Amino acid sequence: MAVFHMRECIRKTKQGIPLTAEEIRQLVAGVTAAEPIPDYQLSAWLMAVCLSGMTDAETAELTMAMRDSGTVMHWDLPGAVADKHSTGGVGDKTTLILAPIAAACGIYMPKMSGRGLGHTGGTIDKLESIPGFSTALAPDRFLKQVREIGFAVAMQTGDLAPADKKLYALRDVTETVDSIPLICASIMSKKLATGADHILLDVKVGSGAFMKNDTDAAELARLMLAAAKADRRHCTAVLTDMDRPLGMCIGNALEVREAIEVLAGDSDSELGQFCITLAAELLAMTGMGSAAQCREAAQNAVTEGTALERFAQMIAAQGGDPRVTEDPSRLPQARCSRILTAGQRGWIAGMDSEQIGRASVLLGAGRMTKADSIDPAAGIVLHAKYGDAVSDDSPLLTMYAAKESQLDEAEQMLRQAVTIAEAQPAPRPLIRQTYSTGE
Ligand code: URA
Repeated sequence: MAVFHMRECIRKTKQGIPLTAEEIRQLVAGVTAAEPIPDYQLSAWLMAVCLSGMTDAETAELTMAMRDSGTVMHWDLPGAVADKHSTGGVGDKTTLILAPIAAACGIYMPKMSGRGLGHTGGTIDKLESIPGFSTALAPDRFLKQVREIGFAVAMQTGDLAPADKKLYALRDVTETVDSIPLICASIMSKKLATGADHILLDVKVGSGAFMKNDTDAAELARLMLAAAKADRRHCTAVLTDMDRPLGMCIGNALEVREAIEVLAGDSDSELGQFCITLAAELLAMTGMGSAAQCREAAQNAVTEGTALERFAQMIAAQGGDPRVTEDPSRLPQARCSRILTAGQRGWIAGMDSEQIGRASVLLGAGRMTKADSIDPAAGIVLHAKYGDAVSDDSPLLTMYAAKESQLDEAEQMLRQAVTIAEAQPAPRPLIRQTYSTGE
């Protein structure tokens, strides 16, 4: 094995000279070693990647090395094992709807999810708004639940891709998050370590997403598919619109309530149909039939109530109160609320989802640093969406918070986030593009 010099890696990456596979393996091993590579050298290298990029081969090698930095899970279950990942957005409660649908249709979904950070929400925070719900599952309990109920949602354990944990924390404080090869390696190392054979990636694009434009989102999708293919996993990536929040609710308990409404049969909404489409895509990936058959199966799981039943079973298995699925008023309720009206006549022509996400943080629904605590009841319910006609006194949205002062702060931001135009805007599809590794 060649002698490893971190300084040499920094120089090469800075000058656009590709690192060898061995250098990348040694670098990643150095991230979690007992005597690790110092943070200042790792930070310099991360910045070099941001500025000079990486080749596809380097990105794939970095992904695999990070995957192998901890436990790589292997499943032995009597059906297809699938995973779904969203690159992060505002109002994105897709997992809460899609996972029970998939489980009701016979697919196993071991889901490792994260908390929200900044203006984006996280599945763990949403589920923890259910009284008693725990996402800290020991590995044997996680396995048992996936086997018995078909899915479990747990917090990412420290043992899964630990090199990513360390590098992500450094990227967060060194302005090196927005590198497409680094995002690919970070996401895919964890997805590959979770051990699913079929992976559905929801690559969010638009103001509320990491990827602000279609070109960058397509490049991220291409790299993630290449990493999946190199590891012989079946992967599909859908590019979906985050220039508006997903669904009508933003905030943890509010989003759980909206997910329950869809699972209880309200699946004609834009959110409902989006989740049915993604669920059908996942079922088709696992060979459950034609696109039409898979769509019918996903829709039936909602209509017949089997998906909601799975959701209730999952909540009970993780210590939560399953009665919320019958009576969502058992979820935490905010002390203060205020309705914002449109204040003018016209059509909603823009909803800046990043600003709406930031306003939800001001209301208490999110955190700006990992140490902040959140208010599970806080958030926003939209009454009108992109393309809707409004008049002066049409209710636009309702804000929920613990204190009136939070409502005052968020109100200003929300007024600026919504654009009302005189002309009706062109419709925008939620799904912009689909890519796949093939079988
Ligand atoms: N999510 C991740 O897990 N990693 C990134 O780098 C970006 C989003």
